[in-house]
Amino acid sequence: MLSLVVSVFVLVQCMNNAGEKIEQVVNFAAYAGSEKCMSCHKDVYDKHLKTAHFLTGQPATENFITGSFKKDSNSYYYSPDILVQMQKRDSGLYQVIYYKGEEKMAIRKDIVIGSGVMGQSFLNWRHNRLFQMPVTYFTAAAQWSNSPGFPEGKVMTDRPITARCLECHVTYAEGSGGDTLEPVNFSRDKIIYSVGCEKCHGPAAKHVEFQTNNPAVKTASFVINPAKLNRQQQLDVCAVCHGGKMQKTKPSFAFVPGKNLADYFIIDSINNLSLAGGEVEMHGNQYGLLRKSKCFTATSTMTCSSCHNIHENERGKTGLFSARCMSCHPSNSAGFKTATHLLVTGIEKKCINCHMPAQESRAIAVYLQGEEKPKAALVRSHFVGMYPDVTKKILDNEK
Ligand code: HEC
Ligand code: HEC
Ligand code: HEC
Ligand code: HEC
Ligand code: HEC
Ligand code: HEC
Ligand code: HEC
Repeated sequence: MLSLVVSVFVLVQCMNNAGEKIEQVVNFAAYAGSEKCMSCHKDVYDKHLKTAHFLTGQPATENFITGSFKKDSNSYYYSPDILVQMQKRDSGLYQVIYYKGEEKMAIRKDIVIGSGVMGQSFLNWRHNRLFQMPVTYFTAAAQWSNSPGFPEGKVMTDRPITARCLECHVTYAEGSGGDTLEPVNFSRDKIIYSVGCEKCHGPAAKHVEFQTNNPAVKTASFVINPAKLNRQQQLDVCAVCHGGKMQKTKPSFAFVPGKNLADYFIIDSINNLSLAGGEVEMHGNQYGLLRKSKCFTATSTMTCSSCHNIHENERGKTGLFSARCMSCHPSNSAGFKTATHLLVTGIEKKCINCHMPAQESRAIAVYLQGEEKPKAALVRSHFVGMYPDVTKKILDNEK
């Protein structure tokens, strides 16, 4: 018995020494940055620049900001006396707070969070700490607004940014101070901006180094291709950011692709009851909702890649998504001709209108100027199923 244990131990050691599957050290130096991938993966890189992943979590320069700085549309009034204005100054882009016409505080936008599909929030450095700024741009209304979850009628400037907020919107940020789970400080020069290549492929400085030094080698080393992981690990690559509310058990950024998410978080599960009652928050929980769908439970292969070609910006291509549904649900099959389906013209391009409708988010909702109720962004439900009210509306429009 004893000898068996020893020999297994030796084998593991040998494999570690010979192979590349040694424990990854996750730190700033382990990352190369997406620009380094361009020379050898130009096609993927060029497409990636157009995605929401690339556009989120960037330095707050003009080319990444969608909201207006023009005189007639650069303001948000918290009350008739309290105004926040967006201003370009020599040292950057600012939110300037006025009380009764007098400037009280000017805060620089240092980091922009959000591609602008729904909206953009801004972060500001104070020493080595990051704070969320009071005003957010809300795309659906093309207006500046109070930041989501901020108190009504009052300017808040001291909401600290957690490592978890950054974990979902940048590739890597090095934290320090605080307790082991929650740092209070971040290093300004140790951030890998945007949701870049290495967020889904793991830290890849070694891959870059190896392939650069060995140009004759046409196979890859020291990098993860999610397609080669098991199904749960493939889902985990996305669920770290698309799994909704989860309580972490290890520091943010410790999880990297190829690991099991359950070793890093207590993963929230959506129960059927809340689904039936329509009480589920759709924001950022594509994973939880999909996992409850029949498409997912009745197959052993469905992952996010069944419907998403992740390197491309495919937003709005309803017909393309419907084609992906029909790879499993061909519209020429006998079972497809249901009573409702027979009433719809051009159904081949409309699957998601009825079965994955866009619904109001409760998390991304803001107070627009002078309005008493918050206005919500629309998010696409990933519970693939039946939505009778939505279907009824669409059928009414068919008539
Ligand atoms: C010096 C050239 C070079 C650079 C730079 C480079 N790669 Fe690669 N990469 C390769 C080669 C060669 C392969 C193997 C052939 C292929 O799959 O394209 C590869 C394959 C891959 C694969 C597929 C791995 C697999 O097992 O199927 C991924 C993912 C990848 N690279 C990601 C990256 C990322 C991310 C970066 C930037 C951080 C990067 N590469 C930079 C040369 C490079
Ligand atoms: C670092 C966290 C993170 C990871 C990992 C991640 N995403 Fe995202 N993803 C985001 C964020 C944040 C957004 C919203 C970006 C925005 O609009 O500002 C987003 C947006 C998207 C969108 C919407 C694109 C659009 O055009 O609006 C899709 C689709 C998506 N992700 C799919 C995936 C899939 C599939 C995976 C896994 C292969 C994945 N994501 C991994 C954070 C992540
Ligand atoms: C668990 C991961 C996660 C955390 C934490 C998180 N976000 Fe997001 N965020 C997302 C995802 C995913 C989206 C894409 C919309 C969706 O799926 O609801 C998004 C969308 C957004 C958008 C809209 C972007 C757009 O235009 O589409 C903004 C703005 C935003 N987040 C800001 C923040 C800020 C600020 C924080 C921290 C205080 C934060 N988020 C924390 C995952 C996260
Ligand atoms: C949001 C996650 C995500 C991001 C960001 C991302 N990839 Fe990928 N990548 C994937 C997934 C998932 C696959 C496997 C696709 C599949 O299931 O077939 C993949 C596959 C690959 C492959 C294997 C060949 C192929 O095209 O399928 C290469 C090479 C690659 N990615 C390079 C890159 C590079 C370079 C970047 C940045 C410019 C990048 N990826 C950004 C998720 C991502
Ligand atoms: C990987 C294959 C696959 C893909 C892709 C797929 N489905 Fe499914 N789906 C299934 C299977 C298997 C079932 C269960 C058997 C059935 O009802 O046909 C199912 C069930 C369903 C159901 C019945 C749900 C219920 O609660 O009764 C609907 C509706 C549906 N799918 C719509 C879609 C739509 C819309 C898309 C595209 C956005 C899609 N599916 C993509 C495999 C898939
Ligand atoms: C106008 C809304 C609407 C559109 C568009 C639509 N469906 Fe449906 N679908 C329904 C309804 C409602 C049902 C339930 C059966 C019925 O009432 O006819 C259903 C049933 C289904 C089922 C379950 C069938 C079964 O065997 O029980 C699947 C799978 C499905 N749809 C897939 C699709 C796909 C794939 C598309 C696109 C090609 C699509 N649907 C387009 C409304 C729609
Ligand atoms: C059955 C098909 C299907 C699967 C599987 C799927 N998605 Fe989607 N997803 C869609 C469709 C359709 C849209 C809407 C695209 C659009 O509006 O252009 C979408 C949109 C999104 C968006 C943008 C959200 C918004 O409200 O605009 C995100 C983020 C996203 N998906 C993430 C994921 C992640 C993460 C997974 C895996 C856990 C996943 N998706 C699996 C079909 C799917």
